[in-house]
Amino acid sequence: MKFVRFLMKNAALANVPKHIDHFSKFSPSPLSMKQFLDFGSTNACEKTSFAFLRQELPVRLSNIMKELNLLPDRLLTTPSVQLVQRWYIQSFMEILDFLDKSPDDHSVLDSFVESLETIRNRHNDVVPTMAQGVIEYKDAFGQDPVTSQNIQYFLDRFYMSRISIRMLINQHTLIFNGNTNPAHPNTIGCIDSLCDVTEVIRDAFESAKMLCEQYYLGAPELELREMNCKQIRPLHTLTHDNAMRATIETNEFSNNLPPIRVMLALGGEDLSIKVMDRGGGVPLRKIETLFSYMYSTAPRPDFGDNQRAPLAGFGYGLPISRLYARYFQGDLQLYSMEGHGTDAVIHMKALSTDSVERLPVFNKTALKHYKVNLEADDWCVPSKEPLDLAIYRVAK
Ligand SMILES: Nc1ncnc2c1ncn2[C@@H]1O[C@H](COP(=O)(O)OP(=O)(O)OP(=O)(O)O)[C@@H](O)[C@H]1O
Ligand SMILES: [Mg+2]
Repeated sequence: MKFVRFLMKNAALANVPKHIDHFSKFSPSPLSMKQFLDFGSTNACEKTSFAFLRQELPVRLSNIMKELNLLPDRLLTTPSVQLVQRWYIQSFMEILDFLDKSPDDHSVLDSFVESLETIRNRHNDVVPTMAQGVIEYKDAFGQDPVTSQNIQYFLDRFYMSRISIRMLINQHTLIFNGNTNPAHPNTIGCIDSLCDVTEVIRDAFESAKMLCEQYYLGAPELELREMNCKQIRPLHTLTHDNAMRATIETNEFSNNLPPIRVMLALGGEDLSIKVMDRGGGVPLRKIETLFSYMYSTAPRPDFGDNQRAPLAGFGYGLPISRLYARYFQGDLQLYSMEGHGTDAVIHMKALSTDSVERLPVFNKTALKHYKVNLEADDWCVPSKEPLDLAIYRVAK
């Protein structure tokens, strides 16, 4: 019996590439916030959601698995990336198991919810595990611009795909697992339909402040200004950790910490939040590297040493926050003035019809990104040595 199971498992695994090829030919179908909301309230139909997800999840998974295969071999073969790849294959296969099952059978729907919960848990540690893979690669082979560019391009798309897959799984499992959440009657799945952004900002500020006070024995105050914000909409999370840490570390010897000013503005199209600190800023040259997975302040998954400030974690705060902002067509931008401070601006769509998922698709254009060669730059590289102008001196 064991042997038969072994054979069957191997046969299934042998077919994985074929299934991935098949599903990756479909483009993912982005949903709007309005669709998420409508679907979870008025038309909550578990059978429809099941039928949609058993097709859509393999499509999203296979699209990104195709790209994973394009990573440099030396990164692909690190134990961490291999582990992530096995998780993806296993989850992909588990969902395919439902393709020939009937949506009219209650036990099928129940076991689908269970499978999704298992899959979600299996993938909890994907980000630190991938980060570990990048470190293993960096330690063994160093960094070069082409690989760094590939890894940046891939991880932005990979983590975005992951955010979207978890969103779909969360919505289905939270809406159809049979439990209502009495503490949050307005939430539809994980979306708070009456979210008060001001309150979210204050909450985020308070939790950052608590951490900050524990470590630095002090924290800057918050000054919040709202422009035109009577009616407020769904929102993910937002933190002030960076601004706080910078303010404290820059003003270490001052009794008067400059406050962190936050401005919230609602227009016809955009909802924007600006977090302004006077934490000394970051030189322009370094701004791009703050968003880099490769150059980040090396995440070490075991935080054994207590030397690290609790407000500084993986160094993935900025790139991942930017992905959350972009996920529904927003963005996160930094404007910094070294010697003064930093403005971090989060833009979001104000209308639920405009908030549509931004999803990577595997196609020829994506493929081209992995085939970049190290060509000569089309801007001059300044010489490190000062130019010896003596050779141009005209003889007198
Ligand atoms: N407002 C700011 N002022 C000054 N430096 C900043 C500011 N925001 C970010 N930085 C610099 O950018 C780095 C990266 O920030 P990021 O939020 O991505 O990671 P982190 O804060 O180190 O860790 P994590 O956010 O994962 O806990 C920070 O370590 C800090 O050096
Ligand atoms: Mg941070």
